[in-house]
Amino acid sequence: MPQRELDQAVKARIEKWIRPDIQSLKAYQVADASGLIKLDAMENPYTWSDSLKKQWLEQMQNQSFNRYPDPQGKVVVDGLKEAFGIESHHDVLLGNGSDELIQIIIAALATDDLTVLSPEPSFVMYEMIAKFLRVNYVGVPLGKDFKLDLTAMLDAIETHQPGVVFLAQPNNPTGNLFGEEKVRRVIEAAPGLVVVDEAYLAFADSNALKLLSDYSNLVVMRTLSKVGLAGLRLGFLVGHPGWITELNKVRLPYNINQLTQASAQFALANYDQLAKQITQLVTDREQLYKSLQQLDGITVWPSQANFILFQSDKIPARELHQSLVEEGILIKCLDGAHPLLTDCLRVTIGTPEENSVFLKALAKLLQ
Ligand SMILES: Cc1ncc(COP(=O)(O)O)c(C=O)c1O
Repeated sequence: MPQRELDQAVKARIEKWIRPDIQSLKAYQVADASGLIKLDAMENPYTWSDSLKKQWLEQMQNQSFNRYPDPQGKVVVDGLKEAFGIESHHDVLLGNGSDELIQIIIAALATDDLTVLSPEPSFVMYEMIAKFLRVNYVGVPLGKDFKLDLTAMLDAIETHQPGVVFLAQPNNPTGNLFGEEKVRRVIEAAPGLVVVDEAYLAFADSNALKLLSDYSNLVVMRTLSKVGLAGLRLGFLVGHPGWITELNKVRLPYNINQLTQASAQFALANYDQLAKQITQLVTDREQLYKSLQQLDGITVWPSQANFILFQSDKIPARELHQSLVEEGILIKCLDGAHPLLTDCLRVTIGTPEENSVFLKALAKLLQ
């Protein structure tokens, strides 16, 4: 078939067979960071020391890639339990990033009547995955300074009876914790499952694992992405074995590849190196926060994560974002992502040098 005819035939088939709501979606966009200082994606800017890299390479040589990986990732699960103090009577489900765990959770609960609920603005994948799986999504606007509006949350839970509530603690993109008392009230009011998403836990003073023994409708989700292993794609869900057994049925076999399993095992055994980097990032976050506060025309919100949300009062956020790109720096523009994020931008904490280049460029643009 000539290429033009083939293209037209494919287009016609797509229009007939791909769901119209999928056709009208845009794929998740990731900005091209080539040649730029990358402060847009909540990654840890540090790599491993040369000696650690060498040890890691030696271990990789012993891997057998001709075999499928361990379907349950048992060694990784044990490593996670030990590294993060997960109690032995809780089970752990591994995901190809916590994105996949969100998909597994919603898929396992999806019915025509399921509602997924979360405060907003929050992590966009809760809503996107709900849409992919054709379930209702309800977003409850956060209150002043992005605090959880408990009354609005409890009202929405009462009205919509959600089967799943996602609470990101700290929240992305706002960086704040909602506070244990409010989290407890939400769990107590929710008729279904509550997922406390602790993706940024390493940078915060919080820990929802201790709530697991108080509630039958709670699971806790975490990831290794933000602590320095984004490239591995490893998320994990901790909870009562009853929940984990059911959710595990929806997981695709071998979702955690051999390289990830072996590398995660190695990284967890050497977690002290990542822990030092995290301590450094928390110190640098406080420094960057103070410096941003001093800039005229910038409103900045305190953060318990590895990024800071700020608003530009002088220059429209999109313009500022583009000007920073021209200065060689990529951050995230959130203008248009949600009405509460008008003119907001989010910067990930980089190395002290990267933070300083960013600050200088921002100060220059605001002059
Ligand atoms: C709150 C929150 N949860 C989950 C994720 C997904 O993390 P990953 O799929 O890399 O584990 C992110 C990523 O930005 C996030 O911000």
